[in-house]
Amino acid sequence: MKITIIGAGNVGATTTQRIVDKGLAREIVLLDIVDGIPHGKSLDIIESTPIIKNDVFVKGTTQYQDTRESDIIIITAGIARKPGMSRDDLQNTNAAIVRSATEQAVHYSPNSIIIVVTNPLDVMTFVALKASGFPRERVIGMAGILDSARFRTFIALECGVSIEDVTALVLGGHGDSMVPLPRYSTIAGVPLPELLDQRTIEKLIQRTRDGGIEIVNYLQTGSAYYAPSAAVVEMVEAIVKDKKRILPCAVFLKGEYNLTDTVIGIPVKIGRTGIEKIMEINLLPNELEALHISANEVKKNIEKLSL
Ligand code: LAC
Repeated sequence: MKITIIGAGNVGATTTQRIVDKGLAREIVLLDIVDGIPHGKSLDIIESTPIIKNDVFVKGTTQYQDTRESDIIIITAGIARKPGMSRDDLQNTNAAIVRSATEQAVHYSPNSIIIVVTNPLDVMTFVALKASGFPRERVIGMAGILDSARFRTFIALECGVSIEDVTALVLGGHGDSMVPLPRYSTIAGVPLPELLDQRTIEKLIQRTRDGGIEIVNYLQTGSAYYAPSAAVVEMVEAIVKDKKRILPCAVFLKGEYNLTDTVIGIPVKIGRTGIEKIMEINLLPNELEALHISANEVKKNIEKLSL
């Protein structure tokens, strides 16, 4: 298994470290346009492997030919938010970066699976899909796992229970209109509306929607990367181990949920070939409406792209 990570910033480097810690690849290529950064971070990470006891080689590079024949390409390159910015404010700058990175990466790895992490996530997944020419099953956006993990964290903190017993489902775009679904979120199998009053649920939903900016406001100079990288690695593990996990991921829709030509997070089955099934779960009219509002926001932003 050879994995390429494009962008050696905080998300790229932490993702590399997590993959090494879990021993999910034999070879990782960490690529960045800034000479020295990927080399230094890679060397530092390799020097941890005798202690971790995983034989993973990490190569830092600025050259796309080093990514040749990767099984998985993870795109994290792009600028991050500063306080006061929405994810959409990043669109034009990051679309150019993601398009160029995708074109160069797929030239050397035409059979790879692409995981997109750059924001605005859903639009960037669309950009990578078009730039790669890959089928939608091999261009997957990360965010639903992150947003669901944030919702799970806030539920566990609110209720004083282990995160292990909390499941949550957050669908839709990775933006202010994301769609947390309390009916499909549980503590030990019991749906949230049976355990918490509506006001408390609304408070947890709002904190989930604001989960990214809450961290940006603290950091001032960048955005989250510990939870985002953990979410990426859950997807990587599902692919590498062909686990057939059901995870909320961003995918291009062709009629599912009555939506077309847009990208949003919905539950998909992930295995060795990428997305193996797109799940259509039952939604109440108000839940479906919220999903449509979110999907249409992404669609409007996709239409603003000059591809
Ligand atoms: C977040 C940013 C990275 O949700 O989108 O933290």
